[in-house]
Amino acid sequence: MIEDIELTLLLEGIYQKYGHDFRDYARASIKRRIKRHMMIHKLETISLLQDRVLHHAEAMDQLLLDISVYVTEMFRDAEFYRVLRQEVIPVLHTFPLFNIWHAGCSTGEEVYSLAILLLEAGLLDRARIYATDINEKALKIAREGIYPLSHIKSAIHNYHAAGGCEDFSEYYVARYGNVIFKPSLKDKITFCNHNLATDGPFQEFEIILCRNVMIYFNTELKTKVLGLMHQSLRPLGLLAVGQKESVHLQGHFQAFNAQHRIYRKSN
Ligand SMILES: C[S@@+](CC[C@H](N)C(=O)[O-])C[C@H]1O[C@@H](n2cnc3c(N)ncnc32)[C@H](O)[C@@H]1O
Repeated sequence: MIEDIELTLLLEGIYQKYGHDFRDYARASIKRRIKRHMMIHKLETISLLQDRVLHHAEAMDQLLLDISVYVTEMFRDAEFYRVLRQEVIPVLHTFPLFNIWHAGCSTGEEVYSLAILLLEAGLLDRARIYATDINEKALKIAREGIYPLSHIKSAIHNYHAAGGCEDFSEYYVARYGNVIFKPSLKDKITFCNHNLATDGPFQEFEIILCRNVMIYFNTELKTKVLGLMHQSLRPLGLLAVGQKESVHLQGHFQAFNAQHRIYRKSN
C-alpha cells in the first residue's frame, strides 16, 4: 500500500536529486508502475525504495526504465498512417524543406514508419526528423534501428493495412534473427533525449507527432506540453496525438482530421 504523501515525497526527491520530473504524471498509473518495480526488487516499503534510489544512481536508472511505458509498433493504428499518406503528405509537398518532431518516440518504430512514407512519396530528402524521448535504453534501440525479426510480420501487415504497396523487405536487411533498417532511412533522423516535462522548444516544426505519451500525464502537465507543442509549431503546423488521448485543444488548434486526432495550429 503506497500512501499519496509517500509517492509525492519520492517523486519530489527524484526531481531534486536527478532532475527527472514525474511529479505531474497521472497518479494511478505511476503508482501501479512503482508498485510493480517494488515487487520485482523485493522492496516492502516506499522508504526502502527511496533510500535505494536516492543513494544509487543505477537504481534510479532501473526505476526510470520501469516508470516509462515504452510499448510501440510499426504503423501503429494503420488507419492513422493511411491518413498521413493521403492527407498529410500532400501538405508536406508544398514545402521545399520541412521539420518533423516525434515527441516520445520510444524505440523508434513510428519514426521509421513515417520515414518509409516520406521515402515512398519522394520527400525524405526534404525532411529533417527529430525523434526524442527520456528513455535512453529505448533511444539506443531507436538509433541502431535493429528489431527482432519476429516483430516484422505485424509490421508488414500494418504497412499494407496503411496503404503500403511496396515489398517491405526492401527497407531492411535481415541478420541473425534481427532486421536492420537501411542507413538511407536513418540519414535524416536525429534521435535525442528531450523531456517534455522540463525541456523547452528547440526548433520550429511543420508537424509534431506526440502519440500515446500524454495519456500518462495529469491535466496540468498535458496543458504545459500542449503549450510547448503550440510554441514549437509553425503557423498552420500539424499536431498528431494518440487515438485514446484526452486532450483539450480548443482555442489554439482546429481539427485537421478529428477522427484520427490530427490538429492544425490556428493562432
Ligand atoms: C507508449 S510510448 C509511445 C511511443 C510512440 N509514440 C507510439 O505511439 O507508439 C510512450 C513514450 O513516451 C516517453 N515519455 C514519457 N514521459 C516523457 C517525457 N516527459 N518526455 C519525453 N518522452 C516521454 C516514454 O519514455 C515512452 O517511450
